[in-house]
Amino acid sequence: MERVIKNYEDVDSWKTVMFLYQSALKEVGTKLEILNDEFQHVHQYNPIEHIKTRVKTAESIVKKLKRYGYETSIENMVKYINDIAGVRLICSFTSDIYRLAEMIGNQSDLKVLSIKDYIKNPKESGYKSYHMLVSVPIFLSDSVVDTKVEIQIRTIAMDFWASLEHKIYYKFEGNAPDYISRELRECAEMVSSLDDKMLSLNEAIQTCVLEQEEKENRTNEESLS
Ligand code: GTP
Ligand code: MG
Repeated sequence: MERVIKNYEDVDSWKTVMFLYQSALKEVGTKLEILNDEFQHVHQYNPIEHIKTRVKTAESIVKKLKRYGYETSIENMVKYINDIAGVRLICSFTSDIYRLAEMIGNQSDLKVLSIKDYIKNPKESGYKSYHMLVSVPIFLSDSVVDTKVEIQIRTIAMDFWASLEHKIYYKFEGNAPDYISRELRECAEMVSSLDDKMLSLNEAIQTCVLEQEEKENRTNEESLS
């Protein structure tokens, strides 16, 4: 059968659509693991601390469509909801985030649809993360379907903040008292300075290790000559 690029409009059943998103997560997840392994192989270092993947539940898809003011339909969910398939990459350092984003952008079979850098431009809440919306081709027996995946890249510290803030936000259903929102923003600043400190500490450690190695090399050379 001839391979055709199908539009999402052609794929009309919920099960098929969810199967596509699951498959997209598998594809992107594997890609990221390979990138991480390659990085370990070349630089003896893992930019990814861990990977979390999830498919949005039917309940929260419907909720989001309502919030956006769209009717509940498969067509609308595929068109308007970008985070049905979600991957979260947790890194040690802010520098890892940009390194990963570049590696993802260089994958020729991934299409980068949009980027939101909430690290350079944090949200009002204090939220920081790097978001990439990509699409990945899913090869089925008779068609290829480009499927959207939202990739969120953040440090362990940013993830810690976002998880707690999310819980609190839900407790208050989005209407937290002012002083709580203010304290959360303060915590976000503490998280940022912790990230900055950890990054410069890591750089200092690297320099230290290099100097140590050079010293050892010199000693070895001297003892040989
Ligand atoms: P939604 O916020 O998902 O409706 O879509 P959007 O188009 O505004 O995308 P955005 O990039 O702003 O946010 C997408 C996702 O980022 C959310 O579903 C959350 O997982 C995360 N996020 C965004 N803002 C916040 C925030 O203030 N706090 C926390 N904890 N997470 C956030
Ligand atoms: Mg939002």
